[in-house]
This record gives sequence, C-alpha cells and structure tokens, in this order.
Amino acid sequence: MHPDAPPPDAPAPAARARPRVVLGVGGGIAAYKAAALLRLLAEGGADVRVVPTAAALRFVGAPTWAALSGAPVATDVWDDVHEVPHVRVGREADLVVVAPATADLLARAAHGLADDLLTSTLLTATCPVLMAPAMHTEMWQHPATVANVALLRERGVHVLEPAVGRLTGADSGPGRLPEPDVVHAAALQLLGDVQPAAAGPGVRDLAGRRVVVTAGGTREPLDPVRYLGNRSSGRQGVALAARAAARGADVTLVAAHLEVALPAGVRVVEVGDARGLRAAVLAEREGADAVVMAAAVADFRPAQVAEQKMKKDPGSDDAPVVALVRNPDVLAELAATRPPGQVVVGFAAETGDEDGDVLAHAVAKLARKGCDLLVLNDVAGGAVFGLPDSTAVLLGSDGSRQVVGPAPKEVVADAVLDAVRERLPRG
Ligand code: CTP
Repeated sequence: MHPDAPPPDAPAPAARARPRVVLGVGGGIAAYKAAALLRLLAEGGADVRVVPTAAALRFVGAPTWAALSGAPVATDVWDDVHEVPHVRVGREADLVVVAPATADLLARAAHGLADDLLTSTLLTATCPVLMAPAMHTEMWQHPATVANVALLRERGVHVLEPAVGRLTGADSGPGRLPEPDVVHAAALQLLGDVQPAAAGPGVRDLAGRRVVVTAGGTREPLDPVRYLGNRSSGRQGVALAARAAARGADVTLVAAHLEVALPAGVRVVEVGDARGLRAAVLAEREGADAVVMAAAVADFRPAQVAEQKMKKDPGSDDAPVVALVRNPDVLAELAATRPPGQVVVGFAAETGDEDGDVLAHAVAKLARKGCDLLVLNDVAGGAVFGLPDSTAVLLGSDGSRQVVGPAPKEVVADAVLDAVRERLPRG
C-alpha cells in the first residue's frame, strides 16, 4: 500500500486501454452491493479482478464474482502459486478498491497482515487504494477501528466515510456501505478518469467553510393523509452535502423527505413543507459561506388543509376542486437578502416548450432568481429523478457555462462545489 505515486516503470493508467482494478470484497452482508459496484466498474471499461476474503464468500459465492468480472477468483495465496499471485495482483493494479471494508479487514490492513490474497495484495499494491467501510456503528466508532482508519489515512489510503442509515438488523446509524455509485465516483476520481479532478478523495479544499444544502422534495399537506409532492429523491442534494463534508466543509443538510440514506458527517435538519424549509434555511444560512438549493420546493400549496380526511360522497361522482396558493420563492429571497460574499446556488429542472429550449428557460431563471449559479438538468422524459447519473449545465451569473456529465451525481456535486469555491472570497 502506498500513497498515489505509481511505480516508476508502470504505464500511467490513461496510457492503457483498460484500467486494471482489483475489487477486494470483505466478509460483511454488504458484499452483495459490491456486485453492483463491480458492474459499474466493468461497464465503465475497467478490467476488474475480484479478490474476496474467505468470509466474503460466505455471503456471495465465487461463481457470482467470476461471472460478473469474467476473470478467475482467488481468495488465498495457494491458488496458481507458480504465478506468485500475492505479489502480482497488487503490482499490476491501477487501483485497489475494497468494498465492503469490514472492521476486521481495516485492522488487518492497518497492521500489515498478509494472511490471504487480499491483504497480501494491499501490501504489494503501489497504486491508490480506496476503502469503503461497512459495519455496525459500535464497531465503526470503537477506538480500535478509529485508530486503524486514522493510520490507514495517514499512509495515504482513501477511506470513505460510511453512510448513515439502516444497518443489517433493526439498528441504524453510521456504518452502511456508501452506495455503489458513490464508491464508483471516488474510484473514477482516483483513476483520474473524471474531470474536474480538483477534488479527489482526500482533498480538503473547503475546510473552514460552512455550507448549507437543501435536498429532497417538499410535501404540501392537503388533509391528514394526503399531500402534493414531487419526484425529487434527494440524491443530488445528498451527494452535494456528502462531497462538501468530505472536502472539509461544515455542512448542514436541510432535508425534505429523502428517499436515499443520509450522508455521514453532516448536521441534518428535517423539514416537511415549503414554509418549513424556508424557515430552516433562513436560520441556517446565517454565517454560511454558501447555500445550495437542490431541494424541489413546491411552488403551490393547497389553500386549505382539511382537518379531517377528505371523504368521497357515495351518492355522487363529484370530485372536490382544490384551490392552491403560491408558496414563497425561497431561492429568490435568499439571493436578494444574502450577506456579502455568500454564494447562492439554485437548481433548475427544465423541459423545453414552445416558449424556448431548456437553456433559454434556465438563463431566464438565473436572472429571475438572482443567484450566483444555476445548475440546469434537462428532465424531459423523467431523466434525472432518482437515478445515480445526471448531466448538468452550470450557468454562472457572470455568463460562464460548463457542461458536466453524464456522470454520477457525486461528480456533478464536485463540479458544483468547484464552481462555488471559485466564487468564494478568499478565506
Ligand atoms: N425554489 C425555491 N422556492 C420555490 C420554488 C423553487 O427556492 N418556491 C428553488 C429550488 O430549490 C431550485 C430553484 O428554485 O433551486 C428552481 O426551482 P424551479 O422549480 O425550477 O423554479 P421555479 O421558480 O418554480 O420555476 P418554474 O416556474 O419553472 O417552476
């Protein structure tokens, strides 16, 4: 294991047609998610060699890994000894990704044990190493694991923060394996495949900054059981919060009905409707360097919220007519009242129509909202919602335009944060 320097005689990853990735799989229930990661890596053109631990094979068997990777699968150093696999596999890799990295595996890696093919590979690899931990919260927070992670990071290993959410049993907390697309995005950055690479894992260029991100979609109540909602999953906002935190920012996530796991290392304020979101974000933006409005905020809400569930009249086919009233435009208010130096970012999910194409709508919206940056997604046909990838155009109030993607939402998040950072007064 070594920081990111390639060995002097190794060709740069870019010079090879297909980057070689070793996917180490630890013995945790999240091993099944590594199959999705393997697919993402393989579909992205990587030549993936899976090296599971013996315990991992109790969760997902060798035939699955062999079939998905199209390569042989070995666990210990006694297979194909003539090829000296314990040295060769690590040496030839452009990247080693370990997912899930269990507490035991982190400990063995931190202490240089080489008792199977994966730990031997970690000792002989000269390429970047990325670890995605997954374990119960108690194990993640145990001083032994904390010390092992600190030691690995000190040596240049990229250890991702686990996600927060439901764990194997009824418990929940930090310890979930980050979603495969999050690990994949970090892997791509380490392979140098994606731009901008300014913020690869380990870069803490937002340290000392305070960032507020809104995510999800507001729900506007109609009666005690019904609401007007929208299709936002919160994935892009969560990716923004997670990447801002990984880059060192102090992050508050104002979360409206997320369908994805909460990211680790951020403060979360949960909200329900547009007015609740407005109150939370106005309070949180005090002292913030940037506010990123990724949430889908309902423009309208029912004029009346029925105290009792609205009932059908069995004697008629009539349906009620619901009157709507306008909600406050939070983004426009934030932009109009922002303190000097605070960067305000809006999102626009647009479809083209007879009044103009998506870009024309977005340019008009940027001016109307008065924010510094507008992140445009073309949502014709439902593209974007809930999906791991998106294509975005970053429009600056200074006239700048940057296309990002199609790429994982974490990569879009990094590009947005790069654009925010460029606009921040020097700290
Ligand atoms: N937004 C907001 N308050 C609202 C509506 C939207 O703060 N009441 C924010 C969103 O968080 C997003 C941006 O405004 O960052 C653009 O949202 P969008 O729904 O596209 O804008 P609208 O003003 O609602 O424009 P349109 O008339 O096209 O729906």
